[in-house]
Amino acid sequence: MSFKKIETQDLAFFHKILAENRVLVDQENIDRCASDETEDFVFPPEVVLQPETTDEISQVLAYCNTHHIAVTPRGAGTGLSGGALPVFGGVCLDMRRMNHILDIDTDNFQVTTEPGVITEALQNAVIEKGLFYPVDPSSRGSCFIGGNVAENSGGPRAVKYGVVKDSVLNLEVVLPDGSVIWTGANTLKNATGYNLTQLLTGSEGTLAVITRIVLKLVPYPKENLLILVPFYSASDACAAVNRIFLAGFTPSALEFMERDALTCAMNYYQSNTIAIPDDIQAHLLIEVDGNNKEVLFGEIEGISEVLSAFRTGEVLFAESHEQKQELWKLRRIVGEAVKNGSIYKEEDTVVPRSRLPELLQTVKAVGNKYGFKSVCYGHAGDGNLHVNIVKGDLDDKTWEEELPTAIREIFHYVHSVKGTISGEHGIGYVQRPYMDIVFNDIQLGLMREIKKVFDPNGILNPGKVF
Ligand code: MLT
Ligand code: ZN
Repeated sequence: MSFKKIETQDLAFFHKILAENRVLVDQENIDRCASDETEDFVFPPEVVLQPETTDEISQVLAYCNTHHIAVTPRGAGTGLSGGALPVFGGVCLDMRRMNHILDIDTDNFQVTTEPGVITEALQNAVIEKGLFYPVDPSSRGSCFIGGNVAENSGGPRAVKYGVVKDSVLNLEVVLPDGSVIWTGANTLKNATGYNLTQLLTGSEGTLAVITRIVLKLVPYPKENLLILVPFYSASDACAAVNRIFLAGFTPSALEFMERDALTCAMNYYQSNTIAIPDDIQAHLLIEVDGNNKEVLFGEIEGISEVLSAFRTGEVLFAESHEQKQELWKLRRIVGEAVKNGSIYKEEDTVVPRSRLPELLQTVKAVGNKYGFKSVCYGHAGDGNLHVNIVKGDLDDKTWEEELPTAIREIFHYVHSVKGTISGEHGIGYVQRPYMDIVFNDIQLGLMREIKKVFDPNGILNPGKVF
């Protein structure tokens, strides 16, 4: 793939559309948009554009399409698969100025928003109206809702409320040739033609640029209870997860953290909230939510009964709002804490839930075989385990040359039990080499054809997914 480099006349055109202060070539902005949260990649764009309207994006895309200039849309840069890396330089379409919540429809439980709104700000805005946007990625305090839609992100509450695609009703998008379309309708049901909304959700900015998003909301659950359960065996903790569902409970979050995940978070955050006895190997963080506290206490009692079949330590029941916040903060910070401690690679494996103990065992067995350490944690209720492979003392040669083989082994296992290689982080730049494990030539061929229909010149987020 090759693209036209940005020249003076291109900048002059962008200036005409966006005015001077939103066409950025200064080093600070170029550096800021050269990387995201994925490992340590750096791919500088040639120019950063900050549009404020759909029409501006339409004009920019039409121009870049005609002149064969690569365009990489960018949210807050919190992605973990390199989706926002401008691997071919060109234009970085920085969406931060499209940051308005346009309408909260309290009659129909919907919100219409621009893509550059911080997810937590959106959550808080709808809470004020008694409504709930439940999708809650760990980076909610900084990530953009547009990036969440592009990556079909998830987070702890997906187990009860689903991932982003389960909340998206309708999207306004700009196609690479500059046309603007809505993908569907602002309705809870829609059986009209192909589902473009679902196709574009999770398409990682490779098919179109999202400019407006209509999300489904639910009434805000007034109560929640949270417990942290220590296990003497990490495998037991994984096995307990499915038992909770088999006993008829659906927690609003059911998170697994192996010992190193929680200790790493506590060290990073300099927290001594929890004393972890030496022989505790993992924790489950379990939340239930609803409107009736008595019912929730009943659920926690029922879940505790299920867990009594396993060797568990003393359960921590979060008594106050602050204690709940503290526990969630520790859980949310695990990824950042691990990254801070070592060079690492992050995998996002997901299997049918009952396979979780086997998944953990496989990851550890492959680690032993190749000599790497991993820190595992994540959304156990979804069968979704984040596997952070840490470099530690491993020599560069083994890290570079053998690790891809080790990762392939894990992914082959995952695929063999009908799981997949990304639950919520996307494929982006870093997971492309593994797509052949989960898709054959026919499936990949279909996806390539879809890409061609939307983006025949291949200008939009090139170098991603395939
Ligand atoms: C999480 O669950 O914490 C997020 O997916 C982020 C991460 O894995 O680092
Ligand atoms: Zn996650």
